[in-house]
Amino acid sequence: MAYDQSTDAFVAFERVQKSYDGETLVVKDLNLAMPKGEFLTMLGPSGSGKTTCLMMLAGFETATHGEILLDGKPINNIPPHKRGIGMVFQNYALFPHMTVAENLSFPLEVRKIGKSDREAKIKRALDMVQMGAFGGRRPAQLSGGQQQRIALARALVFEPELVLMDEPLGALDKQLRETLQFEITRLAHELGITVVYVTHDQTEALTMSDRVAVFDDGRIQQLAPPDELYESPQNSFVAQFIGENNTLEGVVKNITDGLAHVQLDSGDIIDCKPVNVSKPGERTKVSIRPERVEYNKDRLSPDAHTLKAEVLEFIYMGDIFRTRLRVAGNDDFVVKTRNAPDQVRLKPGQQIEIGWLPEDCRALDA
Ligand SMILES: Nc1ncnc2c1ncn2[C@@H]1O[C@H](COP(=O)(O)OP(=O)(O)O)[C@@H](O)[C@H]1O
Ligand SMILES: [Mg+2]
Repeated sequence: MAYDQSTDAFVAFERVQKSYDGETLVVKDLNLAMPKGEFLTMLGPSGSGKTTCLMMLAGFETATHGEILLDGKPINNIPPHKRGIGMVFQNYALFPHMTVAENLSFPLEVRKIGKSDREAKIKRALDMVQMGAFGGRRPAQLSGGQQQRIALARALVFEPELVLMDEPLGALDKQLRETLQFEITRLAHELGITVVYVTHDQTEALTMSDRVAVFDDGRIQQLAPPDELYESPQNSFVAQFIGENNTLEGVVKNITDGLAHVQLDSGDIIDCKPVNVSKPGERTKVSIRPERVEYNKDRLSPDAHTLKAEVLEFIYMGDIFRTRLRVAGNDDFVVKTRNAPDQVRLKPGQQIEIGWLPEDCRALDA
C-alpha cells in the first residue's frame, strides 16, 4: 500500500518554528514526515538548527509554533519515559561513577524492568556493540570509541522505537568513525528502529542515510535520498554543500523545451538544465560536478557547446586524476577522471576544450 505522509508518519514535524529569545526564529517552518524504520539524517552547517530540532523531538525543548507528532500523537502529551526514545550525543554522557553494566541498567530501572530481564537485555545490548566482556569496567577505563559503543548500547538497551543521535561520532578519529558508521546503520536496519541522525559531515550523511534533510538557516533546503541530493540539487546551497561542485556565473539568455542557454560573465554561452531559473535576464549560478566534465572530444556530442580551458594543475590520486582548470575566468574549476589505461594525463599550461551533457549542468539561483 502507498505510504500516506499525513496519516502513516511515525515522526512528523508540522509547520514547526522555534525561537529561544522570542525574537529570532532558529527553526523557521519545518515540515517533515518520516515512516517507521527510516534512517534520516539532518545535515547542515553549525547553527542551522539541527540540534534544536532533535531537542524538540526528544521533548527537552518545546516548539514555539507548530506541532511534533510521534506515531500520530502530539509529543507534548506523552510523558518522557513513555516516549520510547533513545539518545546518543557526541560527548558520550555515560555516568562516570557507574560500571558499564550499571550504565545500561539505568534506563531499564527507570522503566521498572525486573532484574533477570534487565540482565538479559544488558547482555544482548553489549553483545550487539561487541562489548560483551566490558560490563564491569568504568567509563574512564575505556577508549573513546569503546565509550561511544557503550553510549549506543545504552540508547538501544530498552528497545526504543526511535533513536536520536547528535553528532555521535564527532569526537572520534576517521577510521573508528567509519567502522561505527557501518555498525550503527547495520544495527538500525537489523532492529528496525527509526533513527534521526544529526551531523555536519556530508560523507557521513550520504553513506548512512535513507534520506537526508539539508538544513541551512533554520530551514530544510532539500529533503531527498543521497543519490538524488548529489545528482539533482535543487538550489545553489545544496549543490555547494553536498560533494564537490564547479560553479560558473552568468545570465539566462533563453529557456526552450527544458534547455536553458546561459551567457557566462566571460561571454561564453553554455547549455544547461533550468532548475530554479524561470526567465531570460535572470542571474544564475550554474553547477557542474567534476566527474561529469569531459575533455575527450570524441566522447562529446558533435553539437555540444564547449568552453576553452587552461590546465593549471594535475594531481595523480591513484584511482582518479584531479585536474584544476581555468574556465571562463574561474581558476578553481575541477575535473575528475577515472584512471583508465586510455585516459589522458593533462599537463599544466595545456589549452583544451571541455564540455558536458546539458542535463549535467544545472542552472540554479544566483
Ligand atoms: N539554549 C539555547 N538558547 C539560545 N539560543 C540557542 C540555544 N540553543 C541553540 N541556540 C541558537 O539556535 C541556533 C541553532 O542552534 P543549533 O540548533 O544548536 O544548531 P546546530 O545543531 O545546527 O549547530 C544557533 O544560532 C544557536 O546559537
Ligand atoms: Mg548541533
